[in-house]
Amino acid sequence: MAKHEAIDWYDTPLLYDIVFEEDTKKEGDFLEQAFERFGRVAKKRSPRRVLEPACGSGRLIVEMARRGWQATGFDLSQPMLDFAEKRLAEAKLDATLKVARMESFSFREKFELAHCFVSTFKYLLDEESARGHLQSVADALLPGGLYLLGFHLTDYDWDACQHERWVGQRDGVKVVCNIRSWPPEARKRREKVRSRMTVTQDGKVRHTETEWWFRTYDAAQARKLLRSVPSLEHVATYDFCYDWTTPRDLDDRQLDTLLILRKR
Ligand SMILES: C[S@@+](CC[C@H](N)C(=O)[O-])C[C@H]1O[C@@H](n2cnc3c(N)ncnc32)[C@H](O)[C@@H]1O
Repeated sequence: MAKHEAIDWYDTPLLYDIVFEEDTKKEGDFLEQAFERFGRVAKKRSPRRVLEPACGSGRLIVEMARRGWQATGFDLSQPMLDFAEKRLAEAKLDATLKVARMESFSFREKFELAHCFVSTFKYLLDEESARGHLQSVADALLPGGLYLLGFHLTDYDWDACQHERWVGQRDGVKVVCNIRSWPPEARKRREKVRSRMTVTQDGKVRHTETEWWFRTYDAAQARKLLRSVPSLEHVATYDFCYDWTTPRDLDDRQLDTLLILRKR
């Protein structure tokens, strides 16, 4: 079996971006539809402002800027932010990017919309950080503004590893990404996750891997956290199909969860 080189996969933004590009347009469409449908911001502004905590390689920053939103993103990874900056320049688009942490942040301006997809929120490993994050988002939103938060719930009955496989290709670089989650540690509220990438470029093959911990939530734990931040009202739940015709309840029947939260 090939040996995998341990890396921080956010130090290779192009590879991350190749793998996660696929849903970007669908997510952008859903963000705009959600805003039309559930947003209650009193005064119309142009352009409208969108905030992305942990914006990573900037795929959604670019997408929203292209749609005419004034986009602001932050992340703790400088390589990811540098990549996002380069993408914006190539697309001749403007956005504000900075280094900051999800746990606690503040902005002078207020936003109509904010979002955080692909389970990024689960990097916040304790309740205080998760609550701090939601409160910071609430403080950054205009009254009636929305926060769309997408993450996988955990089934604590799992006793085997779960796998997801992603494949992407761009400009002669092919990336196969296998993501494995170990059975959750219910008492510690965490699960170990590993991303393994096989990268083929110029006839050469490279194998890399990154491991991290995610905080775990079942539906009851997610509800309890939401109740602890009363300035955000939970107004709807969807899933990663981004299909308006099938809203869901926040329960444990389906694990991919997209919460629509509104600033009171
Ligand atoms: C899965 S990527 C998501 C990137 C982007 N939001 C997207 O949808 O493609 C997770 C990002 O979270 C960032 N991150 C992880 N923990 C963070 C924290 N505590 N504060 C800020 N950024 C963080 C990582 O550097 C990485 O860029």
